[in-house]
Amino acid sequence: MKVLKALVVFFSFLLAMVHGQYVLLESYEKGSSCSGESLIQGTILTKTCFYDDYISRIFLVSGNKVIERKYVDMQCNQFLEEVVYEPNYCNSTSGDTLKYSILDKIEIPSDVYVTVDYSGACNGHYKDTFINFDYYNLDYCSSYNGVSSKMSCNSTSIFTYTYKNLECSGSPSRTDVTHFLDYCTSYEGTYNHVEFCNK
Ligand SMILES: *[C@@H]1O[C@H](CO)[C@@H](O)[C@H](O)[C@H]1NC(C)=O
Ligand SMILES: *[C@@H]1O[C@H](CO)[C@@H](O)[C@H](O)[C@H]1NC(C)=O
Repeated sequence: MKVLKALVVFFSFLLAMVHGQYVLLESYEKGSSCSGESLIQGTILTKTCFYDDYISRIFLVSGNKVIERKYVDMQCNQFLEEVVYEPNYCNSTSGDTLKYSILDKIEIPSDVYVTVDYSGACNGHYKDTFINFDYYNLDYCSSYNGVSSKMSCNSTSIFTYTYKNLECSGSPSRTDVTHFLDYCTSYEGTYNHVEFCNK
């Protein structure tokens, strides 16, 4: 019995290692407390090297912390520095209001518009092979230059409403409709792509 128990513990440990964990980066409205409607965007990060803003990064989970490793070259060979983030902490140090958290599996919140680039088979399991995984809060009203906008969707399209006020109130002054992209070879030609709304 003891041996069996030890084996079970050992194999669950192995499984946890194989499944790994994901880092979720969420950006919120500046100055908010990182909750509810102030969510703007979420990005699920894989443990792969990606190049962005003249720097390469890898995000990983270690000792219950989120670790960002920065590199100066595109292939993540020349190490520059490491930044440690407390998970679930609403952090405004960089000027943006950001929250990192640790996901044991891919979970998508409700009321979001999701866009995914994935390297696996077309219409296959994007959750196992994604390269870019982003979602956008459908309840979020963004404002700039005296106008504001908000998104909604049906099962085939995304709607962007523009308002001539800062609160997304009243009737929109303009509505843009864009059919979801769902290409088996994306517009960039490298990955498959899928978009949908999770209501
Ligand atoms: C907040 O973010 C900064 C980088 O912008 C980082 O150095 C710091 O460790 C973070 N703080 C926590 C508690 O995660
Ligand atoms: C979604 O909205 C678009 C644009 O109004 C419309 O053409 C399409 O038929 C709608 N889809 C469904 C399933 O209602």
